[in-house]
Amino acid sequence: MTLYPKLIHDALATVRYPGNGKNLIEADMVADNLRIDGMNVSFSLIFDRPTDPFMKSMVKAAETAIHTYVSPDVRVTITTESRQAARPEPGKMLPQVRNVIAVSSGKGGVGKSTVAANLAVALVRLGYRVGLLDADIFGPSMPKMFQVEDARPYAEHKDGRDLIVPIEKYGLKLLSIGFFVNPDQATLWRGGMASNALKQLVGDADWGPLDYFVIDTPPGTSDIHLTLLQTLAITGAVIVTTPQQVALADARKGVDMYRNDKVGVPILGLVENMAWFTPAELPDNRYYIFGRDGGRHLADELGVPLLGQIPLVQGICESGDQGSPVALDPDTTTGRAFLQLAAAVVRQVDRRNVEMPPTHIVEVRK
Ligand SMILES: Nc1ncnc2c1ncn2[C@@H]1O[C@H](COP(=O)(O)OP(=O)(O)O)[C@@H](O)[C@H]1O
Ligand SMILES: [Mg+2]
Repeated sequence: MTLYPKLIHDALATVRYPGNGKNLIEADMVADNLRIDGMNVSFSLIFDRPTDPFMKSMVKAAETAIHTYVSPDVRVTITTESRQAARPEPGKMLPQVRNVIAVSSGKGGVGKSTVAANLAVALVRLGYRVGLLDADIFGPSMPKMFQVEDARPYAEHKDGRDLIVPIEKYGLKLLSIGFFVNPDQATLWRGGMASNALKQLVGDADWGPLDYFVIDTPPGTSDIHLTLLQTLAITGAVIVTTPQQVALADARKGVDMYRNDKVGVPILGLVENMAWFTPAELPDNRYYIFGRDGGRHLADELGVPLLGQIPLVQGICESGDQGSPVALDPDTTTGRAFLQLAAAVVRQVDRRNVEMPPTHIVEVRK
């Protein structure tokens, strides 16, 4: 018997793909690389994703259809391809990113997002290429702080993959879990869904080359932190605290989460936020309403640098609400404080990279 393409296509048209109920031909899943050589037939089946759950069964079904409808003597070789190239392995993600900085705090409301946003903006002002990822699933605040609440990041096709394009604002690249999740529903997200969304924001986005990739993590310790540690080699963590006793106790927990043996992410240092209150009309006055130097003492006790002290000033709160971080204006006291903080972070990162080996991702135990 002589084989010809129509025979093979007719056989493949009897195989239904469960994903959409169409047959393999209708679903456009048979690549146009069909080769016939005597009784040898080879071609590829194309799937949208490399992880398609029906991949194996479709290959088997296609083979069986050819044996049934054409001839049992056909020798069939089927390879699989995917329209979407695979997401890189964890650990190989973001190869063009030089430093990953996790901004963390023991509890919410201490100004973690304010520090992350202003640190990122200040790093841009120092001339670095910066990406900012808002991974705080329980309180994503970057869309508001950067006034891009209505932004809808689109996907582009690049290198065989569909990649999310980060929003560009104030010279940095930004993605927030808040673009994808309605904050009111965030707590309803099962752990797996949130983790998956986060992995996508890291691994399926077109971040490009960056000097600093700053991550605003959720307060405390959570599954999200574990996902981050398993997905990305974090260069170092910046811990934000306020001077109060309770906040300090929480900050200690945050430090332990990164520093323990299994994780081994170095602490770059502590930021003491709301270190004192300065009223707008008395810019030289400092009122230590939450106690004095709590952050400095904790830093000493933990043996980590105090990277900066940020005063409590009305302007920080207002500018956060208006979507223009104070670090954009280096002529203000607070703008200067954040520039100094950024410079301190850069110094610590450089030092860390000289003195310590690169961080490894935390392996998922199987
Ligand atoms: N140094 C500061 N001075 C004034 N307001 C601040 C300061 N730091 C944070 N805030 C305000 O406090 C609130 C909580 O800060 P935020 O950064 O959202 O905290 P977190 O991310 O830790 O929950 C926000 O309204 C923010 O504008
Ligand atoms: Mg926050």
